[in-house]
Amino acid sequence: MLKGQRVTLRAITRADLPRLLEFNNDVEVELAGGGDPPMPQSLSRLEAEFDQSAAQGGRDGGGFAIEVDGRFIGQCALFNFDNTAHACELGITIGDKDYWGKGYGRETISLLLDYAFRLRNFHKVWLRVHAKNERGCRARVRLCRRRTLARTRMEQRQLR
Ligand SMILES: CC(C)(COP(=O)(O)OP(=O)(O)OC[C@H]1O[C@@H](n2cnc3c(N)ncnc32)[C@H](O)[C@@H]1OP(=O)(O)O)[C@@H](O)C(=O)NCCC(=O)NCCS
Repeated sequence: MLKGQRVTLRAITRADLPRLLEFNNDVEVELAGGGDPPMPQSLSRLEAEFDQSAAQGGRDGGGFAIEVDGRFIGQCALFNFDNTAHACELGITIGDKDYWGKGYGRETISLLLDYAFRLRNFHKVWLRVHAKNERGCRARVRLCRRRTLARTRMEQRQLR
């Protein structure tokens, strides 16, 4: 749905679940992502969660699969929507560690921010990151720069 130079953001499908399960059971990936402590997950639980949500119909909301070279490498999402403040949180996990540190996170965040500011009309997007997660902290710094840029552009448009 959202296409960058190398990264495509699309809906997560049932066929992605076995790989997602690998990511969710990888302690290194889970710790880097912060949040809840790592907990094991079975395929049946992951499928049940997916099926329950899919059975409601409608749209996926703010969640996307991250695809590179036709391969599912992780997921990202906008969530915790505050429609009054036009604010939301951004989350990203590249679960395939072979794809870490190659610029895919940077490109994914850029696509997601463009989507948030331009297509969903959010004015503020924020990200939680563990202080020891250097890649995550760098991504957060970049997000602050993009937010400032987007705000400036928006204000310039309003002034014209
Ligand atoms: C954090 C994450 C999204 C970053 O994506 P990535 O594709 O691995 O990283 P990128 O190559 O896009 O680089 C992002 C930044 O980290 C820096 N970086 C890359 N590898 C690094 C390393 N080993 N140590 C320190 N900084 C590093 C890059 O220089 C870049 O900084 P810049 O934008 O100032 O140039 C990804 O590694 C990931 O999902 N990790 C697991 C889960 C996680 O940490 N989630 C984020 C929670 S906020």
